[in-house]
Amino acid sequence: MNFNLSEEHLMIRDAARDFARTELLPGVIERDTNQTFPHEQIKKLGELGFMGMMVDPKYSGSGLDTIAYVLAIEELSKIDASASVVVSVNNSLVCWGLDTFGSEAQKEKYLPKLALGKQIGAFCLSEPEAGSDATSQSTTAEDKGDYYLLNGTKNWITNGGTCEIALVIAQTDREKGHRGINVLIVEKGMEGFVVGQKEDKLGIRGSDTHTLLFNDVRVPKDNRIGDDGFGFKFAMKTLSGGRIGIAAQALGIAQGALDIALTYSKERETFGKPLYEHQAIAFKLADMEMKIEQARMLVYKAAWLKDKDMPHDKASAMAKLAASEAAMWVSTEAVQVLGGYGYVKEYHVERLMRDAKITQIYEGTSEIQRIVISRDLIRNS
Ligand code: CAA
Repeated sequence: MNFNLSEEHLMIRDAARDFARTELLPGVIERDTNQTFPHEQIKKLGELGFMGMMVDPKYSGSGLDTIAYVLAIEELSKIDASASVVVSVNNSLVCWGLDTFGSEAQKEKYLPKLALGKQIGAFCLSEPEAGSDATSQSTTAEDKGDYYLLNGTKNWITNGGTCEIALVIAQTDREKGHRGINVLIVEKGMEGFVVGQKEDKLGIRGSDTHTLLFNDVRVPKDNRIGDDGFGFKFAMKTLSGGRIGIAAQALGIAQGALDIALTYSKERETFGKPLYEHQAIAFKLADMEMKIEQARMLVYKAAWLKDKDMPHDKASAMAKLAASEAAMWVSTEAVQVLGGYGYVKEYHVERLMRDAKITQIYEGTSEIQRIVISRDLIRNS
């Protein structure tokens, strides 16, 4: 067992760390307060190769592995989880799905711009009545011969307002259940594709979450990914990798909160000694470190399994569950360590605590991860 990262992995981690400190940290509080999308920062991340990290270089991607991706997301998330979710969705739900399952023509047409961050992608599965129960799609893609007629509403779509390309999951043949679902590549300019309300969120406020409406959108058949009826499996396989990205985001949030609590505990004195010399604080720091390291092992293992092309559904669900619980717990404790300072925006931990919550909800709630884990356990016992 080798726990060392390669030179290349370390370089990528350091590049992401530098970027987060120099480009994301300035203005992160204002972007959160004003719900401002980090356009400039995402453009630069695209130029540096962070928007299509796992995409084949043939389509302008960076050709890196999932470990590299996880390291980058972790670093970006320590500072700005709003920016990191934009990167995460574009990389693992959109680019990876297209690169892995798209036709040659689809890859040539869509991947280069997405991988370079010139266009941003969105993944549209959730609906007002179909969040966790993903097979119950109300959005329909009616087969009209050489095109699909797309109708429906998608909710809580990350990158919803800024995306140029949306991968939309929709029901074509209800009688076939999940085998009658397709995934279509929908372009922003297509008639009937309407960007709806922007959500006013608790956390990740710099990211752009919208309702999207599809009213009689004519989507060419060539824009269907995979065979007829592949849409649900596409969504499940893509989400399995996507959950590793969100797990890495949660890990970064937790680590960012611990870093701040640690620095503060060295600088701040109470009762004549630094905070960390009080056992009440030292024990908290120890527990925070332990929970983060536990989560990190699961996140890296899930990424490693995916890179080895080995089954990773259970591993990615466990990584997301553990890391999101660590993020919530550690960030809440960090606020406690900072006391009153922790409760104000200037010290960042209150934002990290708000951001942590979404990692227990999106790309499958904690309850969904437990379903995935327990089903796998039972199937293989
Ligand atoms: N890979 C391949 N196939 C898979 C699979 C996987 N990981 N998981 C399931 N399948 C297949 C099954 O084998 C089955 O196929 P067969 O019938 O041919 O054997 C089929 O899919 C249906 O599987 P289930 O019977 O297990 O399906 P289910 O209805 O019981 O649901 C679930 C399973 C795990 C609960 C699933 O619905 C799920 O993951 N729900 C959560 C969805 C989710 O994560 N939503 C968030 C959306 S993305 C987002 O958050 C937006 C954003 O912008 C960030």
